Amino acid sequence: MNQKLTIVSNKKLTNNVYELVLKGDLVNIMHVPGQFIHIQVPRPDLILRRPISLAKIDHHNSTCTVVLRASGQGTQSIVDTKVGDSLNVMGPLGNGFPIDFLVNDNRALLIGGGIGIPPLLECAKQLYEKGVKCTIVLGFINHSAVFYETEFKQYGEVMIATDDGSYQIKGNVKTVIDQLDQTFNAIYACGPTGLTRMVNEYFKDHPNAYISLEERMACGIGACAGCTVTHVNKRSNYKVCSDGPVFKTNEVII
Ligand code: FES
Repeated sequence: MNQKLTIVSNKKLTNNVYELVLKGDLVNIMHVPGQFIHIQVPRPDLILRRPISLAKIDHHNSTCTVVLRASGQGTQSIVDTKVGDSLNVMGPLGNGFPIDFLVNDNRALLIGGGIGIPPLLECAKQLYEKGVKCTIVLGFINHSAVFYETEFKQYGEVMIATDDGSYQIKGNVKTVIDQLDQTFNAIYACGPTGLTRMVNEYFKDHPNAYISLEERMACGIGACAGCTVTHVNKRSNYKVCSDGPVFKTNEVII
């Protein structure tokens, strides 16, 4: 399903990371944290849509929030839009983070890195509303790259690692996870390949550990095989867009 959504807010979060709030009826069918929308670049010469995870879903105001890093012509063109402009959006797409099995007072560990943290925000919100206790570990390059700390603090305990030690803990998310002694009923992770690869291995035996993969996409709906990843048995493939982007740990080769 696709529809034009109106931009009601466009805010710079860090040097090249922007938060866009989009409004429209399509939001009414967005429910699952970890799903993504496929945004048409507002330039006729750039044909491929850009897959962007949902950071917030607000049914009351019919808005959804996405966070993008302006890293190429397509994403730059999207973040250059102004309030009142509209974007053609397809979605919601993919399989998000399973949270239905968790109950009040369960514990969840959320692990995010850089531009991969936004889908964990909606996940943390929905877990918090279920009474799940969230421990949230976020990794960034340095202090100036940190965003959404205040937003995550609404939903749980937040620990931040920076590569250069310029804010909170020096190191990466594994530095923090190594020091945690709680057991968790579920693990949710999203971030760059190094992070998801680490979590895929670190929690490979955990029964409820999930990673969300970032992958370049074309169709976004399982039709082009442009986003294939290999099953750990090496005998079958998955499509990140339609079988994922969320997978259990030890399910695919990263
Ligand atoms: Fe086409 Fe995933 S992007 S199959």
